[in-house]
Amino acid sequence: MKKTAKVLALLLSMAMTMSALTACGNDTAATDTQADAAADTEAADTQTDAADTEAADTQTDAAADAEAADAETDAADTGAVATIQDGVLTFGTNPEFPPFEFVAANGVIDQYDGIDMAIAKQIAEENGMTAAIESMEFDSLLIALQNGQIDAVIAGMTVTDERKEAVDFSVPYYTATQVMIVKEDSDIAKASDMADKKICVVQGYTGETCVSDMGYDYEAFKKGTEAVLELVNGKCDVVVIDSATAQKYVDDNEGLKIVEDPDAFDSEEYAIAVQKGNTQLLDMINSAIEAKLADGTISALSAQYLDAEE
Ligand code: ARG
Repeated sequence: MKKTAKVLALLLSMAMTMSALTACGNDTAATDTQADAAADTEAADTQTDAADTEAADTQTDAAADAEAADAETDAADTGAVATIQDGVLTFGTNPEFPPFEFVAANGVIDQYDGIDMAIAKQIAEENGMTAAIESMEFDSLLIALQNGQIDAVIAGMTVTDERKEAVDFSVPYYTATQVMIVKEDSDIAKASDMADKKICVVQGYTGETCVSDMGYDYEAFKKGTEAVLELVNGKCDVVVIDSATAQKYVDDNEGLKIVEDPDAFDSEEYAIAVQKGNTQLLDMINSAIEAKLADGTISALSAQYLDAEE
């Protein structure tokens, strides 16, 4: 009995530590290893499938893999490879996230502008392809990727363990954190001050996960601009959103300021997502990002778009 109680107490304290560590999408070693192991197994499976498909007999492939392969993965692989052969690399994004993606009169890809759009265009063109953008809601991006409607997602998307179960991520290209946007005269100075305040977040963003993990009530909006408008109009007290985007909103609206709390909000890393097992595309994207990080292209783009007036 005593022993059981001790074990329970230990388990409980472990669980509490874990949830404290994961409060804001921070990867813990434990969850990481698990997700990676799962990802690796799936990646290995998909790789085998891809090799078989290239051997060109889809029917034989399907028969041979009948038990192991799931139909979704096979269809997805074929979709991604076919699109790239057409010379068009289609990125999905949600252009409601300045300075990474927003709609402008003269964007770098059609009407789409921002750091991510410039990166996407360069990755495609350096590899002899044209970049195309499919604009959709943030929540739909990973499903569209899994369905093969798009080849990759570039959307200031934070790598999380949950997302890693659905897709593969490139090497990260940007580090951000959640921050609080408040009115200039607000008494909110740290995350725990939000306890009795009206909190606004954007639906499906890591900011929503953060606030929800902290156990606070909140209202979720479809777009960052809607949440900020609510704050400007005095209908909410604080908006929790990614740092660079928050800076843009504060620059664009009078009377707002940013409050940071590094103890409460961990750093987050943005990466490009591809279908699970699409190693061909992932390798290409990783080489491009690594080169752009090394030669300063990405920091130059960040500086350019963070300073730019829209
Ligand atoms: N970094 C946050 C996340 O991954 C927000 C990203 C929003 N991006 C966008 N293009 N709307 O959840």
